[in-house]
Amino acid sequence: MMQRASDGAELRAIVRSLRAHGAGRVAFVPTMGALHDGHLALVKTAREHADAVVVSIFVNPLQFGAGEDFSRYPRQIERDAALLESIGADLLFLPNVASLFPHGQEAQSRVEVPVLSDILCGASRPGHFVGVTTIVSKLFNLVQADLAVFGEKDFQQLAIIRRMVADLNFPLEIIGQPTTRETDGLAMSSRNAYLSDDERQRAPALYATLRLMAEQLRQRHHMGRSDIERLEAEGRAALLVSGFMPDYVAIRRADDLSEPDEGVGDENLVILAAARLGQTRLIDNIRVST
Ligand code: PAF
Repeated sequence: MMQRASDGAELRAIVRSLRAHGAGRVAFVPTMGALHDGHLALVKTAREHADAVVVSIFVNPLQFGAGEDFSRYPRQIERDAALLESIGADLLFLPNVASLFPHGQEAQSRVEVPVLSDILCGASRPGHFVGVTTIVSKLFNLVQADLAVFGEKDFQQLAIIRRMVADLNFPLEIIGQPTTRETDGLAMSSRNAYLSDDERQRAPALYATLRLMAEQLRQRHHMGRSDIERLEAEGRAALLVSGFMPDYVAIRRADDLSEPDEGVGDENLVILAAARLGQTRLIDNIRVST
């Protein structure tokens, strides 16, 4: 039977009792709900690494900018709870805004990972990642899990959380989960629900573009800065042709998201893209070892 907690005190009491009843390792999966198979894959991975799994659902207002989709973000708690119960989650944490921010959102202390939070999605969504790292720190401190699982679809978010955990010595392990895709390649995302039929038909072009770029990167043994910039520009152009408004298409080092040096070769790279299809902002990425 999956248990539920709606504030920190209740959550900690249940986690203590799970541990007292033999859960040596506790895993945590933070989510904003509207669960899809990608989230369920995170929970299954958590289950494989731990004796008990805690999942949170909280649509975090701190990580939405003015004019973004906070108020229309899909909320379907009972459906989500039934799915989580069916795959064996042990505890669902459903905090409310008042219990998490008793002094109000403005006065809430913040956790910031500078530099990494300011590039790529951080450049187009100022303040977004501070909102993410602040809520994730609070949730880590509340749950006190041994490990947490995050999706690689949000590649920059995962890199920022790994950096935060290392820099602030959070005593837990972070596991990255490969992206779950629809059969046509579209990365699963709660925001896919916003797409019209026509947009949904076009949406796989995002990943298809990244795959083509990855193929070209793999074929080249040596790439200078100008070759990389040309490839990024070609990726942006391909997205425009498919009806997207690209925010960025960027080839970066996978470990720290820095720009690869002149003469790329022998490196672990990632190609990341964010682009709007109508009103919906989609992100995706692909890893490339050259
Ligand atoms: O990836 C998400 O769904 C959110 O950014 C997270 C990690 C649950 C924090 O609100």
